Amino acid sequence: MTESPMLEIAPAVCLQAMNSLGIAVRAEYFCRPSSVDQIYQALDFAHTKGLAVTALGGGSNLVLAGDILGLVIVVDIKGVSCQEAEGQRLAVRFGAGEDWHEMVQHCLNKGWYGLENLSLIPGSMGAAPIQNIGAYGVELSDLFVSLETIEIATGKPRRFDRQDCQFGYRDSIFKQSLKSQHLITAVTLNLTRQAQVNIDYPALRDSLPETAPTPLEVSAAVCKIRRQKLPDPAVIPNVGSFFTNPVVSSEQARQLRSEHPNMPWYAQSDGRFKIPAAWLIDQCGFRGKRYGNVAVHKHQALVLVNHGGTGIEILALAERIKQAVQAAFAIELVIEPSIYGLT
Ligand code: EPU
Repeated sequence: MTESPMLEIAPAVCLQAMNSLGIAVRAEYFCRPSSVDQIYQALDFAHTKGLAVTALGGGSNLVLAGDILGLVIVVDIKGVSCQEAEGQRLAVRFGAGEDWHEMVQHCLNKGWYGLENLSLIPGSMGAAPIQNIGAYGVELSDLFVSLETIEIATGKPRRFDRQDCQFGYRDSIFKQSLKSQHLITAVTLNLTRQAQVNIDYPALRDSLPETAPTPLEVSAAVCKIRRQKLPDPAVIPNVGSFFTNPVVSSEQARQLRSEHPNMPWYAQSDGRFKIPAAWLIDQCGFRGKRYGNVAVHKHQALVLVNHGGTGIEILALAERIKQAVQAAFAIELVIEPSIYGLT
């Protein structure tokens, strides 16, 4: 067996380029392992020095509130392999360090379908299951087969299937009981050679031709809608939706609808209703408003944007929004990205 090259572990590294909010905090130590062997080297270093380990993915769903003590690891394992499953189905295994959207395009070009609705979501493959990314009627969990990890405390490899991950709306076991305990090294998804598009999401259906659209057309339409509504983090730093859409009781939803007849609401299978957080925030007058170095995006009230501010300023704006929505609608908004560096 050939050994991986020695992993470089650097002290005092600025993380500004590694988080899509562009927040300039530092990691006490930083490394980017590109193989499982290099992950073991990183864990040995951390365990020997008694350092805490923080795993970051593509950095597109986190708020860095301050410097990160210990060792920050960005898993950079690359590679794609495809196995035929039954019929037209394929099991495609991706290295956790692959870029999500590059993989969506790679699969579409190969004629491996299923990821088209999830086009243009920023971030890495390994981070996608943590928040169970979703858009335009499809969630990662719909396509998920399994993932592989290394447990940080023990260095043990582990495989999680779909049930083990306990997926929910923007949620998984890796945001709950196993938070910060595993480094994800690979993800396997169930794709198909058969084009069977999902265009149930109204905004998507309305932007496509009436006759059976192809997966490539669906991907192009999703990209177009996202570019219209969501700021490109490379241009205006952001982490996409800053809050999850709240789900309220049928009584509360009906009471609110009687007071606000134009309030969008979506019935859930359990009888409750999902209310768009963007609508609630918009009603409170925040859309397009700037507070110092941070702001609420002008086209989508659910997105906070950073104009050179700190994680603390972003979180203060989030708190202001939460309080206003609580006062106006008696609904508690929940922050969606993960927060690091709060001491
Ligand atoms: N709306 C407003 N004001 C706004 C924006 C939207 O009132 O400023 C209203 C719209 O009129 C619409 C409703 O809010 O009735 C919902 O808006 P939209 O369809 O844009 O979707 P969303 O609920 O805001 C969710 C996801 C997005 C995902 C889109 C499309 C969450 C937290 N967000 O947004 O995910 O791309 O649906 O499926 O579930 C992300 O997670 O980072 C993300 C961008």
